[in-house]
Amino acid sequence: MMFIYSGTGNSYHVARRIADALDHKIIDMAVAHRYNRHTYDAEGGDVIFVVPVYCMGLPHTVMEFASKLDVRNPGKVYCVSTFAGSSGVEAHQLSEQLNGRLTVDGCFGVRMPNNAVSYSEPPTPEEASEILAQADAETDSIIERIRNGDVGDMRTIRYEGDDGDGMYAGYEDFRVTEHFHVNDRCIECRVCEEVCNTRVIKIYHRKPVWDEEKCDMCMSCLNLCPKQAIEYGDSTQGRRRYFHKDYKNKVLGIPLRY
Ligand SMILES: Cc1cc2nc3c(=O)[nH]c(=O)nc-3n(C[C@H](O)[C@H](O)[C@H](O)COP(=O)(O)O)c2cc1C
Repeated sequence: MMFIYSGTGNSYHVARRIADALDHKIIDMAVAHRYNRHTYDAEGGDVIFVVPVYCMGLPHTVMEFASKLDVRNPGKVYCVSTFAGSSGVEAHQLSEQLNGRLTVDGCFGVRMPNNAVSYSEPPTPEEASEILAQADAETDSIIERIRNGDVGDMRTIRYEGDDGDGMYAGYEDFRVTEHFHVNDRCIECRVCEEVCNTRVIKIYHRKPVWDEEKCDMCMSCLNLCPKQAIEYGDSTQGRRRYFHKDYKNKVLGIPLRY
């Protein structure tokens, strides 16, 4: 079984490739957490987490979900992360949240296009396709290693410093929603509300409002807005947006109105 979290489809794409090759069922952690589903039976099969790296660590919802997760009869447990620059302390954090109920046997990382528009501009379409081609090759080698039952830290790109936890502390300030705003390009399509992993976006007077103090900062609202009407402070203005073309598969069943 496979537990995934994805803001803009990169992790979903990697997860889908692995799940198809190894015949795994995909469970979306954002949805499972929302409906309070934390108990599973792996029936002796491997348990694979596929997650994006946020501020060197895990998305808030993944931390919360993992702290409650109970999986019976697990095989080997793997953490596969996607990131734009380097992986960080995500596998370590996952182990901590699982607190001995599951032990992470192996971790991998896949470099994908950057979706954190507020940090830096996402790649051009040409740059993105180059990164994605390399990512598919990396994912195929991960599939073989999982098939072989390999264990250990098998990430090819990783942060070598010792302040990963310190950098993760910055995530708490970053995920404050007051910086989000919508401009008059908004066509009131409600895509942002539909794609929000934490369901913090509410529609008031036909426009989105971020109705909780904090969210996961998955950036799906900002990147998926068909009119680029959502900004985060001043930092995202004039910058490209990014989402993986597989995103629409992630939200199968949700009527995206493009
Ligand atoms: C809030 C936030 C923080 C991020 N922090 C990092 C980071 O610390 N290191 C990194 O390499 N990429 C970072 N990224 C980039 C994502 O990890 C990367 O684009 C990932 O593949 C997105 O996956 P998704 O499309 O499944 O959401 C960050 C993205 C977001 C939205």
